[in-house]
Amino acid sequence: MAWFETVAEAQRRAAKRLPKSVYSALLAGSEKGTTVSDNTAAFGELGFAPHVAGLSSKRDLATTVMGQAISLPVFISPTGVQAVHPDGEVAVARAAAARGTAMSLSSFASKAIEQVTAANPQTFFQMYWTGTRDQLEARMERARAAGAVGLIMTTDWSFSHGRDWGSPKIPEKMDLRAMARFAPEGLLRPRWLLDFARTGRVPDLTAPNLAEPGAAAPTFFGAYGEWMQTPLPTWADIAWLRERWGGPFMLKGVMRVDDARRAVDVGVTAISVSNHGGNNLDGTPASIRALPAIAEAVGAEVEIVLDGGVRRGSDVVKALALGARAVMLGRAYLWGLAAGGQAGVENVLDVIRGGIDSALLGLGLSSVQELQPSDLVIPDGFARALGV
Ligand SMILES: Cc1cc2nc3c(=O)[nH]c(=O)nc-3n(C[C@H](O)[C@H](O)[C@H](O)COP(=O)(O)O)c2cc1C
Repeated sequence: MAWFETVAEAQRRAAKRLPKSVYSALLAGSEKGTTVSDNTAAFGELGFAPHVAGLSSKRDLATTVMGQAISLPVFISPTGVQAVHPDGEVAVARAAAARGTAMSLSSFASKAIEQVTAANPQTFFQMYWTGTRDQLEARMERARAAGAVGLIMTTDWSFSHGRDWGSPKIPEKMDLRAMARFAPEGLLRPRWLLDFARTGRVPDLTAPNLAEPGAAAPTFFGAYGEWMQTPLPTWADIAWLRERWGGPFMLKGVMRVDDARRAVDVGVTAISVSNHGGNNLDGTPASIRALPAIAEAVGAEVEIVLDGGVRRGSDVVKALALGARAVMLGRAYLWGLAAGGQAGVENVLDVIRGGIDSALLGLGLSSVQELQPSDLVIPDGFARALGV
């Protein structure tokens, strides 16, 4: 794989390499796409005020999140990767491990948790509230037995499926009929097809981490159906899961101060300020706009992580200056995975690390721990304090 210098270039390569429907499943977004656009646009509204001399020749990027030491304040967000690359989440986990950071595995992922923890011992397992409490507990215990070092509960999902630009048609199962239907797309993307052909397998659209003990993995849509039929979780349910897990626990998808306070009340270790990468309720502001109020309200009590719209190291620095301890990456590493498998994800992490380092240098800082709001140019009206 030829090295790329920005995440934008990784995205261009992903667009060239992936079949159209796979690429558009990654673009995702919902409804009009207001939130997904604001997630990246908002970072562009924030500026820097760099120094010109007396700069620090050494910069320390390391931090910890949910008890894990990581070499940069960036780690992998959970995504149902499915058909991007034959090695899928295992390649992502290896890349994260090679670059000294943590992995999160979606319960809708295409690889089993055991394979992923073997590739990266710093793996968090992400769950949605799907199935019965017994099923939830069994899946959680499987992740624990596999060595997962933290649990992420994602609850921001409102089952809205329309997109003004159209949704990709994802087959129920990759059988011969589906292959025939996708053949024209695949033929237009021979390198992607070749990657899978080399493995002798077709993309496996199943969710192995949601399988009943000893049973075959459900199809992605079978698992999605179970989720749609599950009664929605209450705060008491989240408290129950948190208590059963016992270890480091993150609630992902918090956008409001009142919800952040309730998360603190149920005893979470960390909050991910996130709007699901703009894939949930369209019209929700960018997560970076909601961060300052949440960090101010509960930042002393729990770890705050920012998720959504991060495409460069300077975005990470902006999030940390506004009160995040670390950020999570979604699409950025998926583009890397599409562009070059494990090496592509490593390349993305290197690009981001370089960008963080450059921003710290310019700001005259020697550590990510020193970042403060005063390092930024924040336009009036930038932030949104929700639920105060
Ligand atoms: C294709 C795709 C699949 C996703 N699947 C999940 C998932 O299974 N579980 C989850 O908690 N979040 C999921 N997310 C949300 C990401 O974890 C993350 O919040 C989001 O991608 C961050 O925004 P970014 O892509 O701009 O970095 C998904 C996002 C994308 C783009």
